[in-house]
Amino acid sequence: MTRQTIVSMPGDGIGKVVLPQAIRVLEAVGFEADYVHADIGWEFWVKEGNALPERTVELLAEHKTGLFGAITSKPKPAALAELSPELRDKGYVYFSPIVGLRQRFNLDVCIRPCRSFPGNPLNFIRRSADGGFEEPEVDAVIFRQNTEGLYCGLEWSDPPEGLRAAMATHPKWKAFADVPPEQMAISVRLFTRRACERILRAAFDYARKHGYESVTVCEKPNVLRETSGMMEEIAAEVKAEYDDIALWSTNIDAQMMWLTKNPESYGVLVAGNLFGDIVSDAFAGLVGGLGFACSGNIGDEVAVFEPTHGSAPKYEDLDPPIVNPIAMILSAAMMLDHLGEGEKADRVRGAVATVVAEGKVRAYDMMKLSGGPDVISKGAASTVELTDAIIAAL
Ligand code: NAI
Ligand code: MG
Repeated sequence: MTRQTIVSMPGDGIGKVVLPQAIRVLEAVGFEADYVHADIGWEFWVKEGNALPERTVELLAEHKTGLFGAITSKPKPAALAELSPELRDKGYVYFSPIVGLRQRFNLDVCIRPCRSFPGNPLNFIRRSADGGFEEPEVDAVIFRQNTEGLYCGLEWSDPPEGLRAAMATHPKWKAFADVPPEQMAISVRLFTRRACERILRAAFDYARKHGYESVTVCEKPNVLRETSGMMEEIAAEVKAEYDDIALWSTNIDAQMMWLTKNPESYGVLVAGNLFGDIVSDAFAGLVGGLGFACSGNIGDEVAVFEPTHGSAPKYEDLDPPIVNPIAMILSAAMMLDHLGEGEKADRVRGAVATVVAEGKVRAYDMMKLSGGPDVISKGAASTVELTDAIIAAL
């Protein structure tokens, strides 16, 4: 086995806390790799006017596989206010570096597995017909189209005349024709056949490989007739090649209701960018929330693995750190799967399962405490102690 080089992008806030812990687990499971650090995040927006410096892009282009912690991003006025004085008024515009990475390398397939670990006190429970409680086993894997849709970046405040003229060719523009452009904002939801086909094929392949019975397309074709309609149409075409897997279709709004009624019914789900973001966070909430939610952003050449949580700045300076490293560790396990190290990935997930089931070492979120320096004295494990327990279970 050739030695891998992994691009390590801790980013901001608790990204810097959890990523080194995941690397400790990777080392403990015997994954042989070198890690090169790459700059990304708010600090580089402030200092350089670019949260995704070109040198980071080059490192990923060279080494192909990255681990990412989290970044901080802030609304437009704050972004401009915090930019170094010498960079102001030079036309710098903040753009999310993780969205940037996804677009730069066409990391168009986002996989977000949401599986419950038995014994996790954060697992979803519901009341059963006899008045007791039941804890359905959730095993849903969300495939989110990662580069297009409403996050494609085609947005305008005060849309220019050319754009308004093009819009005016649509009969529905009439309702907005009298609105002054400066009182208008437009975000485009753009789908392409190519990207729909890629996410659907990835989902069906995954379902077949991992023994899931169904793929559920979760869109809104009754209203978003063109974009959601395209996804549904292509889903039916792709499904024809997968006799063994059922194709279901739900509307995103109804799905948000059903997933707390019968989450165990769903296997692989597919959605466009925004709906995929929403439905994956919702499923993650059933299996432990942000402390457990892992993901992979996968393109043809490059892949980046990250927890879905953000930089949680209010916890970044706590000593000892208290945040749950499991989401980052499970993301690292997804990276192992991607690199053909499935056996090691299973061992990492097994070690997490053991520690969760034993219930002796728990981060503050697993104890349902609100975060702060006092959680340690209330019995919560620190980030490092929880990682130690996972490593011991390996
Ligand atoms: P967040 O995910 O950073 O934190 C929300 C809350 O979730 C935290 O206050 C904490 O209570 C909990 N939490 C998050 N991660 C946890 C962990 N590992 N263990 C235990 N509890 C955890 O989201 P928020 O506060 O909305 O955003 C903070 C910053 O992160 C913003 O600047 C936002 O733009 C950015 N962000 C970045 C993302 C990324 O890098 N992919 C994703 C989401 C937000
Ligand atoms: Mg999200």
